[in-house]
Amino acid sequence: MAKASRAFVCQACGAVTSRWSGKCASCGEWNSIIEETAPSGFPALVAIRGGKGRLANFDTLAAGSLEAQRMPTGLAELDRELGGGLVPGSAVLVGGEPGIGKSTLLLQAAAKLAESGVRVVYLSGEEAPAQVRMRAARLGLAEAPVALGTETNLANIIATLGSAAPPALIVIDSVQTLWSEGVDAAPGTISQLRCCAAALISHAKSSGSTLVLVGHVTKDGQIAGPKVIEHMVDTVVSFEGLSGHQFRILRAMKNRFGPTDEIGVFEMRQDGLKEVDNPSALFLSDRDRGAPGTAVFAGMEGTRPILVEIQALVAPSWLGTPRRAVVGWDPNRLAMLIAVLEARCGVRLGAHDVYLNVAGGLRLNEPAADLAAAAALVSSMSANPAPDDAVYFGEVSLTGAVRAVGHMDQRLKEAAKLGFARAMVPAAASEGDRKVKDMRLLPIAQLEELVALFATPSVE
Ligand code: TYD
Ligand code: MG
Repeated sequence: MAKASRAFVCQACGAVTSRWSGKCASCGEWNSIIEETAPSGFPALVAIRGGKGRLANFDTLAAGSLEAQRMPTGLAELDRELGGGLVPGSAVLVGGEPGIGKSTLLLQAAAKLAESGVRVVYLSGEEAPAQVRMRAARLGLAEAPVALGTETNLANIIATLGSAAPPALIVIDSVQTLWSEGVDAAPGTISQLRCCAAALISHAKSSGSTLVLVGHVTKDGQIAGPKVIEHMVDTVVSFEGLSGHQFRILRAMKNRFGPTDEIGVFEMRQDGLKEVDNPSALFLSDRDRGAPGTAVFAGMEGTRPILVEIQALVAPSWLGTPRRAVVGWDPNRLAMLIAVLEARCGVRLGAHDVYLNVAGGLRLNEPAADLAAAAALVSSMSANPAPDDAVYFGEVSLTGAVRAVGHMDQRLKEAAKLGFARAMVPAAASEGDRKVKDMRLLPIAQLEELVALFATPSVE
C-alpha cells in the first residue's frame, strides 16, 4: 500500500501545493486552500508490474445513433440547451449560485420525464424529503412518480442503483454533498468531489442512465467549485441570473452532444420556472422610453435573436480616477469603447463616471453590442434620448469604424416583429438587398456618425 502524504488543494481550481497559503497562486482565490490526503507513489505502475491487464475491446465508429434515443425533458428551453434532449449514458453538470433555482429546474424536468413513463431517481442530499415534497406541491408536481431519496454515501447510492433496472434519469442534488469512505476528506472537498463524480459517471456510462449533477458555485471557497469535474462530464450548463430579477438564463459552457451558444430563458414565478418563448418581449417589457442613456441592442444568442436594452449613465466624477462599473458586459470592452469615443470622436469621458447595465440580468458576449453600448453612452452624455423605435448593432473597431456582424436579417426581423421601425446598422452590411419590411436602415460607417446623431436634438 502506497504511503499517504499531505497535500494542500485549492477548493476553487484544484491546484495542489505543498504548503498552505492564504491565497491560491494559480487562481487568485482567497482562503480556498485546504489540507487533503493525497496518495503517494504511482499506483498505476504497480498494476502494470503485476501484469494484471485485461484485454480491451474495440468498436466501430458506425455504432447506433444516439439521436434516436434522446429523451426530451418536456421543458423546451432546457431541451434547446441540451441539443434536443438528454442523451442516455451521458453526464450533465448544472452549475449555479445557491438559490438561483437549480433544484426547482431539475425537479420540474424530473417530474415531467417521470410523468412520461420513464423511471427517474432524484437524490436530494441537501434537502429533507419533506422539503422536496413541499416544493413539488408548490410546483403542482406532487403526483409525479419520481423516486425520491436522500442518500449521500457513494457506495450506498451505487449499490441501490445497481439493485434494480437502471433508471432513465438520475439527479444528484448536489454533488457537493456526496462522500465516500475511501477518501479521507470532508464532503464537499476536491478529493471527495472528484472521486464521487468519477464513480457515478462511470456507473451511468455503463448502465445507460443519464446522470445530472447539481453543483453549487460559490465565491468563498468553502465548498469545492464544480469546475474541477467539468472535464469529466459531457455537458456543462450554468444557470444564472441576477438576484432580485425574475429572469433565469441557462447557458451551455460545454456540450458534447449539442450547441454551446444557445441560451434558455426562464422566469421564476410563485409556481416555479416558466419557459419564456419570446425573451425579447420580456427583456424590453419595462423599458424606460424617452429617457436619455438607453439603447436597444438587436443581439443573437446562438440561433435565436434577442433584443435587450442597454443602459448607460455618464455623470461628472468627484474621484481622481473616475469609476467605470459594468453589469452584463465585458469591462475591457467598455474601456475600449470609451477610448475610441475619446480618441476618434472627441467625446470627453475622462472626468466622468461611467456605468453600463444590460437590463434584465442578461450577460452579453457579442462584439455586435458595441454600437448599442456607444449609443447609450453618447445618449446619456448628451442628455438626448435615443429614438424610441430604433435598434442598434455593429462592432466598433479601434479605428472607430463600424464593422459588419452576422445574422443581420434575423436581427432585423425580430426588431420588426417587436414594433421597431429603424435600425442603425454597420454601413458595410446594409448594402445589397437585405431589406426587411417596415424597417428603415440607417447605415453607419464610423462611430463619429453615431455621435453626430445625438449632438443634434432631432435624431430623425
Ligand atoms: P432553488 O431551486 O432551491 O435553488 P438552488 O437549488 O439553485 O439553490 O430555488 C430557490 C429560490 O427560488 C428560492 O429563493 C425561492 C424561489 N422559488 C420561487 O420563486 N418559486 C418557486 O416556485 C420555487 C420552487 C422557488
Ligand atoms: Mg438546491
